[in-house]
Amino acid sequence: MATTGRARSLEAKRAQSQSQVHSKSGALGQGDQAVAKRIEGSAILITGGTGSFGNNVVRKLLQWNPKRVVIFSRDEKKQFDMRNTYRDSRLRFVIGDVRDSTSVSSVMSGIDYVFHAAALKQVPTCEFFPIEAVKTNILGTANVIQAAIRAGVKRLVILSTDKAVQPINAMGMSKALMEKVMIANSREFNGVAKTTILCGVRYGNVLYSRGSILPYFVDLMKLGKPLTVTDGRMTRFLLPLHQAVDLVLYAFANGAAGHIYVRKSAGTTVEMLARAMIKIFEYDKGFIEVGIRAGEKMHETLVTREEILRAESRNLYYDIAPETQGLDYNQYFVRGRKLNVDKVEPYTSSNTKRLSLDETVELLLTLPEIREELKNWKSRSNLRS
Ligand SMILES: NC(=O)c1ccc[n+]([C@@H]2O[C@H](COP(=O)([O-])OP(=O)(O)OC[C@H]3O[C@@H](n4cnc5c(N)ncnc54)[C@H](OP(=O)(O)O)[C@@H]3O)[C@@H](O)[C@H]2O)c1
Repeated sequence: MATTGRARSLEAKRAQSQSQVHSKSGALGQGDQAVAKRIEGSAILITGGTGSFGNNVVRKLLQWNPKRVVIFSRDEKKQFDMRNTYRDSRLRFVIGDVRDSTSVSSVMSGIDYVFHAAALKQVPTCEFFPIEAVKTNILGTANVIQAAIRAGVKRLVILSTDKAVQPINAMGMSKALMEKVMIANSREFNGVAKTTILCGVRYGNVLYSRGSILPYFVDLMKLGKPLTVTDGRMTRFLLPLHQAVDLVLYAFANGAAGHIYVRKSAGTTVEMLARAMIKIFEYDKGFIEVGIRAGEKMHETLVTREEILRAESRNLYYDIAPETQGLDYNQYFVRGRKLNVDKVEPYTSSNTKRLSLDETVELLLTLPEIREELKNWKSRSNLRS
């Protein structure tokens, strides 16, 4: 999806207001202190650092006195906008492509920690161009991991998605294989003297991220059209961006080799989301159902039944251990394990805590983007009346 410079600097502004909202909600917690200690004086690389995640995490990292933060991505315009927004000499911008192992290797020298966020993440793009998803999400991740191990990076966190769990679309399939690449590499290098700890996170759609349902609803309202929902019963996890960033930092601080971390999040139906927007904006055109689109599931899963059996629940998070830590091939071919899979439930957007209409309204009103749109909406209505 083409993005204008204005949209990109809005991205940075959003990151700023989201991190302000976040810091109001809590001072430096114990988890943050652990992260801050590690970050101080360190060199950090963020692949895909010009994206929504990158913009948000950079603001936090810079507060913790890193030696340098390297942003690695392809598009010079996004880097130009980000450089102008932050104007911080500790931020370095490197043009490169995760598909190109040479450019990935050259940026890894002297790096202590890596956040691997570069990805193709739109479902329709990957449906039409699945090989491109393979190149960026799978082979690109392998390049980043291998370069990090060679350079003696201490920790690397990969960012995955609920769509990688029992995937039905090419984007999810490529992210599922990305997770496997991380797990296989951490299995292989586990116990090697100078080990790079590789771990990952999984999260669902970030609220108000580009191309997601909430900005789409706002666009429809501006056009005076009814909101469109796919199937009112469809459920989704609801995750504000600052919670996605917290999850990544939790994995960064606590992650064990090959483990994947998931944040427990509330969920709601897409009908409830539409009703909440209609209530907030006092919108009088209602909503219509248009049916499930290609590549979409009725409910998303963050932890499967099989994973729940080996996952640990830690306050806000699930910690999913890899299936096996060793290189014992018998575990794959000869020996099995008895699992009581039918006795446990997977963790899905349909069985997580379901928000009521008022709770959904309350959550949406914490989003700076919604508050800003509401302010503009009200001033436009005042002009009309
Ligand atoms: N946003 C969500 O709702 C969500 C949900 C679950 C998981 N995630 C995961 O979180 C991560 C970050 O997502 P985001 O929302 O920040 O995505 P985003 O805003 O779309 O940013 C993606 C970043 O990746 C870079 N990139 C893409 N292809 C690249 C390549 N071949 N080489 C180097 N850089 C490349 C992009 O910059 P250039 O185009 O300039 O290269 C951009 O900086 C992704 O891995 C995504 O799958 C996101």
